[in-house]
Amino acid sequence: MTRKEAMEIFEKHVTQDSLKKHTLAVEAGVRGYCKKFDGDLDKWSSAAILHDLDYEKFPEKHPFAGAEILREKSVDEEVIEAILGHGDHTGIPRESLLSKVLYASDELSSFIVACALVRPSKSFEDLKLKSVKKKLKDKAFAKGVDRDILQRGADELGIDLDDHIKNMIEFLMIRERELSSEGESLLG
Ligand SMILES: [Fe+2]
Ligand SMILES: [Fe+2]
Repeated sequence: MTRKEAMEIFEKHVTQDSLKKHTLAVEAGVRGYCKKFDGDLDKWSSAAILHDLDYEKFPEKHPFAGAEILREKSVDEEVIEAILGHGDHTGIPRESLLSKVLYASDELSSFIVACALVRPSKSFEDLKLKSVKKKLKDKAFAKGVDRDILQRGADELGIDLDDHIKNMIEFLMIRERELSSEGESLLG
């Protein structure tokens, strides 16, 4: 499956701008790690684009409903497994590198976007590890993001959380530059 095909499926199921922005931010993280680990970019991007496919229409069945939709379309089982694995409640183990990367990118990408949006510059360009760490300690900030999940994501990837945050800031910054040339943005 190509990124373009994944995007076509996504557009049929998702209309919320916030969910689209979240999806593209997660994809930015996954693409960054894909390049680092020499993965299959179309496959990894597709997993990121499709991971919350069902969240708008079937939040209570997420991500099982999405997996069902994708199985009907004969999407690669590795992609489906990674999507099922990104929810801790599914009990599906994260065995592949793609599964681990998707899980580690999901919550952290949105957290870093939230950190960038409160900067005067509203940008990733001058966002530093130190300021993200400060926000992690501030329990009232982005309180929907479970800090334990961020730590677990880094642990499963075998990367120190600080390094993982630095990587993600860089991946988001690079992707934001690419998207802005297409008139898109990961930021508000
Ligand atoms: Fe999800
Ligand atoms: Fe997500």
